[in-house]
Amino acid sequence: MRKIAIALLLAALAAPVLAAAPADMDARIGALLSQMTVEEKLGQLQQLDGEANGEARAEHFDLARKGLLGSTLNVRGAKRTNELQRAALQSRLAIPILFAFDVIHGYRTIFPVPLGEAASFDPAQAETDAALAARETRASGVRWTFAPMVDIARDPRWGRIVEGSGEDAYLGSAMARARVRGFQGADYSAGDRVAACAKHWAAYGAAEAGRDYSTAEVPERTLYETYFPPFRAAVEQGVATFMSAFDSLNGVPCTANTWLMRGVLKGDWGFPGLVVSDYTSVHELMAHGVAADGADAARLALNAGVDMEMVSRDYVTNGAALLAQGKISQAELDEAVRRVLRVKFLAGLFDKPYAEEAAEDAIVSMNGDSRQAAYDAAVKSFVLLKNENNALPIPPGVKNLLLVGALADDQAALMGSWTGDGKAEDCITVLQEFRAKSAERGIRLTYLYAAGPEASEKDDILAAVKAAKRADYVVAVLGEGPNMSGEAASRSDLSLPGRQLELLKALAATGKPVALALMSGRPVDLNWPAANIPAIMQAWFPGTMGGPALADALFGTVQPAGKLPLSWPRSVGQIPLYYNHLSTGRPADPGNKYSSKYLDAPNTPLYPFGHGLTYMPFELNDLRVSASSIAPSGTVSVSASLSNKGSVRADEVVQLYLQDTVASVARPVRELKGFERVTLEPGQSRRVEFKLGPSELGFYGADLKYRVEPGEFRVWVSTSSEGGLQGSFNVAH
Ligand code: BGC
Repeated sequence: MRKIAIALLLAALAAPVLAAAPADMDARIGALLSQMTVEEKLGQLQQLDGEANGEARAEHFDLARKGLLGSTLNVRGAKRTNELQRAALQSRLAIPILFAFDVIHGYRTIFPVPLGEAASFDPAQAETDAALAARETRASGVRWTFAPMVDIARDPRWGRIVEGSGEDAYLGSAMARARVRGFQGADYSAGDRVAACAKHWAAYGAAEAGRDYSTAEVPERTLYETYFPPFRAAVEQGVATFMSAFDSLNGVPCTANTWLMRGVLKGDWGFPGLVVSDYTSVHELMAHGVAADGADAARLALNAGVDMEMVSRDYVTNGAALLAQGKISQAELDEAVRRVLRVKFLAGLFDKPYAEEAAEDAIVSMNGDSRQAAYDAAVKSFVLLKNENNALPIPPGVKNLLLVGALADDQAALMGSWTGDGKAEDCITVLQEFRAKSAERGIRLTYLYAAGPEASEKDDILAAVKAAKRADYVVAVLGEGPNMSGEAASRSDLSLPGRQLELLKALAATGKPVALALMSGRPVDLNWPAANIPAIMQAWFPGTMGGPALADALFGTVQPAGKLPLSWPRSVGQIPLYYNHLSTGRPADPGNKYSSKYLDAPNTPLYPFGHGLTYMPFELNDLRVSASSIAPSGTVSVSASLSNKGSVRADEVVQLYLQDTVASVARPVRELKGFERVTLEPGQSRRVEFKLGPSELGFYGADLKYRVEPGEFRVWVSTSSEGGLQGSFNVAH
């Protein structure tokens, strides 16, 4: 009985949210399929790349007129997409083109990089950002974004950690749902929405040694527990498309992985959308050593369930012969085409194939609410890692302020990796904003380049030291360059690049108070700053409005409250490092040599997952657990009271962690199972409540079946993954 209840509940959770389908969609798709030649069918499965500046290529027009081009990527702009669409609609069956583009954290208005957005612990903000990005994207004729990237990553050497939501499946799933909702709304044919794409399926973030495109070896149970949940969440939210990953998973390249595509995704999860390959990942099956030639690559990918081929042309080149030889079936080919056409129908392309050219400039304009949203998102993304003796905000008495660092004066860097159609000139830097603020406050501001991510002739540490001696407060904006994270940007050494650490040491040696604002797409080595610099603010790459947002956070006119979406390692030697590791037989014990630890470093991170300070003092107390014992299908409520003891309205993120103390397989020492970003007025208190039911209490057992097992569960309500108010309850037999 209980088992049935749990199964029903899980089935209900898994039901995909379908966009509004035209009533006659299936009939129209059937009619088209019955008229299409094999060549036309294969054409629908082809996606070709446009020019980086958004122009289509001459060849696209030719193919489009013949009805042989299903989709493009990077072609954008209302006029350009309309021109190419016109050619496609002249073709025999007038099937429209699906225009795609990587709108990862903004189209023209650039929001913080996704990792920074995740640090807000505010899915509603991520949804707003995605919705605004969708509006601009759609206005420029693009109907499909290759986002969200929902890859879990436990290795900050991997540069693409910047594109995801960090190390945690629960946070990652919440962000995945929010972003899909933001891009697609309830119906992605609406005039301000686009189809989304969950990528990279699967476990691309588990690349060995953090090297991009490298092998992933992940046990099936860990896939279900850690790497799959954000993808599953995206399916439940009705995501239109998936992208197959570049890497191989447990020996089988993802783009040829039948188990992933036909087994889990389309089979078990009932995903009705289309799967696109990654950029030439079909062709790369040869380099993987699983395909002998292009025909073999096409056969493997099509049979595995990759519906559309991005950029390489093995499907169109070899599809007809493969079909004639019986190496792919007519049914499989038709099914792939059906999936492509279905997304085109659901995107409203058959009814509204064109963009409104007259409306584009007004929407993609950097006016209106998009700047405000970019500003709000940036403020929410900042994580105050350290603040000894309230060194931040910049004290009101400061008269001579020194701002140093190349990154403080770099418009393009604010956008980080994947800049959509963002323009450096739209971005407002920290320096610009500091100038304005200093003038308002009668502060004498000195700015020096001093040092940056790349060693340069402009580096001048001596000049910075001289200026620091004359100043009464120093703000250093340091970090990585925007190209040091993102795709193909893995690092084996996470130290602050260039001469920036040398600069920081020299500044600290002057004895003047120094605050460090760090821009980076991943954790960098902060051991020295953490021990020697009183205040550290992690600013990620904060986007178009990053400068004003960061300046306001440093001056204290807004309140930082972001939290780390990953564990911040002390050294590369600790990687992979994640808070929700499994219990071990010999937990680290300083008094016992034969316990799980290093000789030369603690096991703990420098800053834990979920950590982030606030300027206002918050208090969390009075933990309540609603029941001491519940049935396996039951629900328990866990709550605590949060108070703002400060003088200003501010946010704090309350987190709920769980541990299943005794189970049939080793369970994590704790796992995030709830969070809420709460805003409180000064003096205000609020009880924050979390519900735990079968979908939070269960796990995948050794048989890979989801279950809730009886026994004791521990819970913590806290403001980080360390410490907190602790309680417990039992799940009865
Ligand atoms: C990346 C994808 C991206 C695609 C298209 C690939 O190199 O891995 O994430 O969507 O290019 O630009």
